[in-house]
Amino acid sequence: MRIAIFASGNGSNFQAIADAVAAGKVDATIAFLFCDKPKAFAIERAKKLNIPVITFTPKRFEDRMAYENEILKHLDEEAVDLVVLAGYMRIVGPTLLTAYANRIVNIHPSLLPSFPGRHGIQDAFEAGVPETGVTVHLVDEGVDTGPIIAQEKVAILPDDTLESLETRIHQVEHRLFPQVIQQLAEKNK
Ligand code: GRF
Repeated sequence: MRIAIFASGNGSNFQAIADAVAAGKVDATIAFLFCDKPKAFAIERAKKLNIPVITFTPKRFEDRMAYENEILKHLDEEAVDLVVLAGYMRIVGPTLLTAYANRIVNIHPSLLPSFPGRHGIQDAFEAGVPETGVTVHLVDEGVDTGPIIAQEKVAILPDDTLESLETRIHQVEHRLFPQVIQQLAEKNK
């Protein structure tokens, strides 16, 4: 299975997937990292790993369709089977959703449908709920709304700070996301 990973920032999930591929735990090839933020740290990580990087911002294009058509051109050229959103901070539009129907996955740091949106960890922490977690789901036209593939709970402990909770959630993300991608790779065979 050939995958493209989309990231906008730090890229720790990208790193976890790339490490799992290198360790033979995920039977996939990372065709490229796509980044919509030319200064994102994810790009440095990809360069170190010798993974091809494609980066451009939507600003260069007339509209979202033109932006996504350019992305699609690269996905087609590289015969990508699965698009993996790993901290890609944009809503996916109809162009990509149609071309890659049921072949775009996202990771979100909460137990969806609770706490969708940009601040899933903080929102759960501030709500004072006893547990939150991590969700991997198929992407549809909504924000963090597609069919759920896998979820794992993370308890919010009485002495947790937002930072300590974030650390534990990211640890779960870095284990769960490669596992799910491996399951999808098995199915894709
Ligand atoms: C992760 O918490 C992910 O769940 C969310 O954005 C964050 C990306 O972190 N969608 P990183 O860039 O992978 O370090």
